[in-house]
Amino acid sequence: MGLYLITGGAGFIGSHLADALLARGDAVRVLDDLSTGRRENLPPAASLIVGDVADPAAVRAAMAGVDGCFHLAAIASVARAAEDWLGTNRANLVGTIAVLDAARGARTPVVYASSAAVYGDCPVQPIAETAPTAPRSAYGADKLACELHAAVATEVFGVPTVGLRFFNVFGPRQSPGSPYSGVISIFAGRLRRGEAVDVFGDGGQTRDFVYVADVVAALLGAMTRRPAGHRVFNVCTGHATSVRALAETIASLSGQALQARTHPPRPGDIRHSVGLPVAAREALGLAPPTPLRDGLADVLAWLAQGE
Ligand code: NAD
Ligand code: UD1
Repeated sequence: MGLYLITGGAGFIGSHLADALLARGDAVRVLDDLSTGRRENLPPAASLIVGDVADPAAVRAAMAGVDGCFHLAAIASVARAAEDWLGTNRANLVGTIAVLDAARGARTPVVYASSAAVYGDCPVQPIAETAPTAPRSAYGADKLACELHAAVATEVFGVPTVGLRFFNVFGPRQSPGSPYSGVISIFAGRLRRGEAVDVFGDGGQTRDFVYVADVVAALLGAMTRRPAGHRVFNVCTGHATSVRALAETIASLSGQALQARTHPPRPGDIRHSVGLPVAAREALGLAPPTPLRDGLADVLAWLAQGE
């Protein structure tokens, strides 16, 4: 059994990955600054180093002796990156370079979180990995730069890397309280209490919502199978859901009437973002994705537990 470092392991996706690694008998070390992550998300068996992923000394110490690194630490909000361009760049790009640099000596394999945001407003949907990249956000630009640096780490320095372009991930532990959180957790948190939701734009924008357990399966598959060379894969379902349809579905699952306030679109908001999942399914050995309604039911059950 191995020892794995998860940067950002106290966060939403990282803590589910920690659970899965421990459940199969691996040991887990986490590097997290607890800016959006929470100590309580982590199972007691995971060891936590509180530190900054953009601090090279902290990353080197955290990387020592591990069999692989899952690099998830980042400021995950597109909207927050628009407000704090430089601060986000430090966490998201400098942090990734620090991880790749620390992985160089021992050629430690790195599986890292990229994003569908690298595609920008892609004219062809669903989006294949071969589509042109044209980010429309500081966040997406940094994620694309992470991929370029990871390619250098692999091709020049011999570090095995796999980039996963997550689409819109949702599930338990995604914070319902922060305006910077994902739309599903925000909508579910409000609608189940019969409160109104805020819709940016006309609600006709679409997203590909992928359940967190399916993202964990992709992370584990990428580390185990590690396809040769630097590769990037979509992690998505192939199904489009509009923001308005999402609000209606969550309201109906909650047994509440939908009340929605409309606002201007967010600056740089992508209109349509739906991915083609076939390459990841084949290369990483993934099962069919969790249906949206099943995942939403889990989110609502988790929110009810917290009452
Ligand atoms: P999250 O905010 O729950 O997790 C990010 C974690 O990184 C948090 O625990 C946070 O405390 C930590 N962190 C932030 N800055 C740090 C720093 N400078 N040093 C150390 N730790 C730091 O978000 P998440 O949704 O779990 O996202 C995980 C990864 O997946 C991120 O890289 C994100 O960009 C990417 N991603 C997420 C989604 C999504 O829909 N949630 C989609 C695409 C990509
Ligand atoms: C999300 C992720 C980002 C990831 C990207 C990949 C979060 C916080 N962000 O960005 O990390 O890289 O997917 O596709 O998980 N909206 C509303 N009302 C709200 C909140 C959001 O209408 O209260 C709308 C937004 O304007 C947007 C859509 O819902 O059109 C999704 O927003 P959000 O959940 O913030 O995700 P993305 O910006 O797509």
